[in-house]
Amino acid sequence: MAYLKPDQPEKVYVPALRAAKEKGEKLVCLTAYDYPTARIVDEAGVDIILVGDSMGNVIHGYGNTIPVTLDEILSATKAVKRGASSALIVADMPYGSYHTGDNKAVRNAMKLLKGGGAEAVKLEGGRNRVDLVKRLVDEEIPVMAHIGLTPQSVHKLGGYRVQGKTAIDANKLIEDAKILEEAGAFAIVLELIPREIAEIITNDLKISTVGIGAGSSCDIQVLVLHDLIGFTFGRQPRFVRQYANVSEVISSAITHWMDDVKSGNYPNDKESYGMPEAAKKEMTA
Ligand code: KIV
Repeated sequence: MAYLKPDQPEKVYVPALRAAKEKGEKLVCLTAYDYPTARIVDEAGVDIILVGDSMGNVIHGYGNTIPVTLDEILSATKAVKRGASSALIVADMPYGSYHTGDNKAVRNAMKLLKGGGAEAVKLEGGRNRVDLVKRLVDEEIPVMAHIGLTPQSVHKLGGYRVQGKTAIDANKLIEDAKILEEAGAFAIVLELIPREIAEIITNDLKISTVGIGAGSSCDIQVLVLHDLIGFTFGRQPRFVRQYANVSEVISSAITHWMDDVKSGNYPNDKESYGMPEAAKKEMTA
């Protein structure tokens, strides 16, 4: 049997994360949910694309991530896979897809790998997910864990607040991170926790930490693309730095187009099709 070389020499696979951490090299991760954004994000050189259940907030308008379905993540993952050739593709396991038994969770994760083209899955939770993480890793499914603020627990938590602010809660997060590493997770998202705790976890672990609202010590930074480019509505959390205002760009383009249509300036002759002269003559003959 011949072992095929990956077609893209710069393609990011899971082991590259550990190698980057050992070298002290920071990596970056962004969300994408469709083909064009995946292409742009990938071509910009982002290392990891997360097909996040944040799609519930930013593209479906659900208001939170709870209603997101496996089919929505699967369809988005397929589109992202077609658009990205270098970045590692991680698909989020939505709420309900890994909560009703490990066999079901393995089957759902396999759908994301086999049908969607994901190269890893992400799931939320700490010590309560350890057996599941072990099982998924045993079945050759790389797992990115996610602790701190876990948006799928919004109803239990009663909102989106910084987690790990007491010594007891902080120690619990540190322990959870260690347990998840031992269970075989290849990386852990740390969302909305004090930077001091994120630094302790990052230094304690051999696997990579992926920070969002967790300070600058994390090995990898992740943001929701729509937040970074200003394509969302409402107040942003303080950790978001907005680098563009895409909503304004889109709105201004639409306004100009409407003005042109109403003033008769669109479409002009170059933007429409004329009848061939011969056909015109035939019609008038
Ligand atoms: O769904 C998502 O985009 C996420 C990131 C915020 C880490 O979970």
